[in-house]
Amino acid sequence: MTNQLNFQVSKPKQLGLFKTGDLLIPTNGDSSFNDPAFASNKKLPIHRWVPWIAGFSSDFVRDVLERYANGNSTVLDPFSGVGTTLVEAVLFGCNAYGFEINPYAALATRVKSSSHQIDVAAFDEYIGKFRIFYDEKINSDYPPQSHPPKGFTTRSPFYSPKVLRKVLVFLDYLATVQVEEIRDLFRLAFASTMVSYSNYSYEPSLGRRVSAGKSEFLDYLVGEAIVKKLIEFSEDIKWFQANKPQKQTEVKVVEASFFECQEHLAPQSVDLIITSPPYLNNYHYNRNTRPHLYWLDFVEHPSDFKNLEHSNFGKYWQTVREQDRIDLDFSLANSDLSQKIELLRIQKPEKGIYGGNGWANYAASYFNDCYKFVSGIQYVLKPGGSALVVIGNSILQGILIPTDQYLGRIAEKVGLKLIGIDIPRATRVGNSIIQSDVRTVKAKKSHQLYEAIVELRRI
Ligand SMILES: C[S@@+](CC[C@H](N)C(=O)[O-])C[C@H]1O[C@@H](n2cnc3c(N)ncnc32)[C@H](O)[C@@H]1O
Repeated sequence: MTNQLNFQVSKPKQLGLFKTGDLLIPTNGDSSFNDPAFASNKKLPIHRWVPWIAGFSSDFVRDVLERYANGNSTVLDPFSGVGTTLVEAVLFGCNAYGFEINPYAALATRVKSSSHQIDVAAFDEYIGKFRIFYDEKINSDYPPQSHPPKGFTTRSPFYSPKVLRKVLVFLDYLATVQVEEIRDLFRLAFASTMVSYSNYSYEPSLGRRVSAGKSEFLDYLVGEAIVKKLIEFSEDIKWFQANKPQKQTEVKVVEASFFECQEHLAPQSVDLIITSPPYLNNYHYNRNTRPHLYWLDFVEHPSDFKNLEHSNFGKYWQTVREQDRIDLDFSLANSDLSQKIELLRIQKPEKGIYGGNGWANYAASYFNDCYKFVSGIQYVLKPGGSALVVIGNSILQGILIPTDQYLGRIAEKVGLKLIGIDIPRATRVGNSIIQSDVRTVKAKKSHQLYEAIVELRRI
């Protein structure tokens, strides 16, 4: 057994461990934190607005805020996704900062976390006007003025002709909305529903409905689906206004990589970080939000994705698999991280770019970004400030990678204190890439995917 990594457990509850191969794996459910999985957000005001596969639960964020923050705290999420941390931080009376590179997710974070400032009566009026506009146009031979985004190509038509016409009528109305905050609410309502009436679905990656055994939509109540969403927004904004503490809070959403945090935040300006970076599972945020990015005019051409791909935490396997060799940029004493990457590298050389070298390049890029991430934490946190990082482990080419433990070690290297690693959930369903036989060996029974909360403190 090579128990080289110092596996620490936060008090008061002790973590169970079992041995598989040469690794210690935490056992289920013995955590003092609430479950960080996003599923429970689906019914909650504001959080239910935008489905996001990789989000965490508002209960978890609330739990952390209650333990680590007060009304004067400044809370940061460096990888804000659709804004779970920021919404809860504002509800708690804190200043809320977020970084997010995906423009659609950044829009969701910004709109949700500042929606308490919306004039609901004006918003309701716009919803009413949309209903009239839409009914009139749909029930006439009105030719929509808007066009589908030119650069957006799909293997089969994204929308059936009848559905497309309705979507374009919606876009025609959107072009008449002059108030930016209200227009953004309409854009978000469209974006958060747009896949549900398309011929694509999330399985969990975006693919054709027919490939998943589902039939295509020849027609759909598009306007009604958007109005239902808008009414949900309106109700939730009223709820937000009634439940937010009556004090000024600052909300700042930066649509840029957290690795550029020094350009946007002063050193030692944050009290608490609550976040979940992309996992080492190659979940492709950009591909899975292609429709949103094109239809909301955030991108026009495939080349517009290049920058997003390169600044994504860990890059993507597709981006680095063809390079000869990517190594760790740092050394890590008393850790088997570099040996683990070399073990990965020698798997299945006969498979060329699909073999171990590509995955080793991906893992090395990922841990190089872990280094940049914890350096950013060290820069922004005030002395005594805490960071709670939700992260999953990984299985690449059949090799188990305890990402949480390596992250803890890398954090110590930049001077942060690793307070503990907590495991609220030991069974996690891997995504399609990880479980695909084509690219990786299927997770063996003895291997287990888990989610961990890594707690760090700035000394
Ligand atoms: C696991 S998700 C976060 C989900 C979030 N906790 C929520 O509840 O919505 C990770 C996010 O990090 C974003 N991301 C990836 N690389 C980034 C970078 N370098 N800087 C900022 N955001 C990044 C991705 O676009 C993705 O939305």
